[in-house]
Amino acid sequence: MASYETHEYDVLIIGAGGAGLRAAIEAAVGDLKVGLVCKSLLGKAHTVMAEGGVAAALANVDERDSWRVHFADTMRGGQYLSSARMAELHAQESPDRVRELEAWGALFDRTQDGGILQRNFGGHQYPRLAHVGDRTGLEMIRALQDHGIHQGIEVHMENTVVSLLKTGDRVSGAFGYEREKGRFKIFSAKAVVLATGGVGKAYKITSNSWEYTGDGHSLAYHAGAELIDMEFVQFHPTGMVWPPSVRGILVTEGVRGEGGILTNSEDKRFMFDDIPELYVNQTADSPEEGWRYTQGDRDARRPPELLTRDHVARCIVREVQEGRGSPHGGVFLDIAWIKEKIPNAPDHIRRKLPSMYHQFKELADIDITQEPMEVGPTTHYIMGGIRVDADSQMTAVPGLFAAGECAAGLHGANRLGGNSLSDLLVFGKRAGEYAAQFAMENEAVSLDEAQVDEIAADTLKPFENPADDGSGEQMGPYDIQAQLQEKMQELVGIARSQKSLTQALEEIQNLREKAVNVHAVGNREYNAGWHTALDLDCLLTVSEAIALAALERRASIGAHSRDDHPEKEEPGAGKYNTVIKKTDDGTMEIRRHPIDELPADLQEIIDEIG
Ligand code: FUM
Repeated sequence: MASYETHEYDVLIIGAGGAGLRAAIEAAVGDLKVGLVCKSLLGKAHTVMAEGGVAAALANVDERDSWRVHFADTMRGGQYLSSARMAELHAQESPDRVRELEAWGALFDRTQDGGILQRNFGGHQYPRLAHVGDRTGLEMIRALQDHGIHQGIEVHMENTVVSLLKTGDRVSGAFGYEREKGRFKIFSAKAVVLATGGVGKAYKITSNSWEYTGDGHSLAYHAGAELIDMEFVQFHPTGMVWPPSVRGILVTEGVRGEGGILTNSEDKRFMFDDIPELYVNQTADSPEEGWRYTQGDRDARRPPELLTRDHVARCIVREVQEGRGSPHGGVFLDIAWIKEKIPNAPDHIRRKLPSMYHQFKELADIDITQEPMEVGPTTHYIMGGIRVDADSQMTAVPGLFAAGECAAGLHGANRLGGNSLSDLLVFGKRAGEYAAQFAMENEAVSLDEAQVDEIAADTLKPFENPADDGSGEQMGPYDIQAQLQEKMQELVGIARSQKSLTQALEEIQNLREKAVNVHAVGNREYNAGWHTALDLDCLLTVSEAIALAALERRASIGAHSRDDHPEKEEPGAGKYNTVIKKTDDGTMEIRRHPIDELPADLQEIIDEIG
């Protein structure tokens, strides 16, 4: 291994968003040596795009809230496809994780009596989202970083991991390159935690930035771990739609949490037109307290704009498709109307939603305290991901753990807003703790030098592939990425069908053939074309997994809608997770795994609150 720069760790964390940082902090509690690798600069993570709050049943604003209600809300929001054990752990542990973060310096907005303030969010029965204006994820990252840098964690910024290393069945490290100089780096480790976030860059319209190319999903899949429920991609209902250069940038659900309403070109609050069955007949002492809706009631305690994201996004698409959209293909989101009921509403809006105020002022020349925004769905999050053990977060590969967005199980068919931040705190901590335990209980294994040389050769292949001969046969890395994004948006977006998904799989296969021969121009220093060429395998792998799982699920449930199968369940199929695995011959295999019956105590909660 002499020719490679090598770093040895007990625990290696790949990804430095909220989940990675929380895992690293936990793994470093003892005297283990912990390394943290991130593709971007430390602190630049999609965690900051969870703006509106972190969900935790602190019951500071409504004392009826409890972990049991949070558990029931999460299960209902996920259409009962979530791992019940993960939903239980998440609801029970998130209050402690939020209080711990506060003790580490996170400055949350306060209630009148000095507690952590909580706001309403979609699908949460009570105000549950602890928040810092509309910059919650940013403040969380800041607090985790401030705490983390004192734990002796070694950070490798702007390093991309291209492959995990295995020795026998066990994970033994990772192989990556430095983005700046293009130099290779080897990280050997007794345990590895993947915390690489999502796959948003597989789509054209997304709230995700360039880093989110499904790296962790793909690394795990190629190393022999399973992926589950990849068909469930969350299209956040409110992204910017205008001007074109900012299309997809997130407009936090916090706007609706603070009273923002959605209207169409006829000035109608269209969300009252379609209330899903699961949310209509909830038992409630009075209409204002429960989940019932009164047409046109602006002061409804649970406004229909705060139904779950899957449903709101579909309603927006319906309005646009039926000709009632806004001028640039979205609908209107109006927070300015609250001046009818709040004195000094503009100040209030600027205080509660400072980023949204500046975002619209600077990018769209809109003053949101005076006029409505134009919004439409944007690819934001993937519920599916790496299959993990609910308690320890270990994958099927010994020593390999996953947490945060790249791991799956908690959110089922649809994630509730704010549950991403609590997810990454609860399961980031658990992944770090169990990875540390694994590292303490297992000896280091030596790396396989031939495997490393093979990965290094593959990584350099784009330079060796023949340059474009002008025949029109070859495509550059950016063209392949852009075409994939177009096709995923068009064929595997909010509405899908057997026809669109079959075509998508063919397109992905064609692009994969082009990607194998893609040529990178220039040398290894600062070479964005080469980096994009290397990202393509991850993007194509997750895109294939999403399309294949979407084809397999012949039903419309949660975030997955099939025009040709509008019913929630395929007759006789029952409830199941889709499971994807790489076969020995390198192809992608899919199967269904039935969902276990709930343990009696959890079933009781669902029956009572559910
Ligand atoms: O709308 C938002 O603030 C996003 C939150 C989330 O994705 O959890």
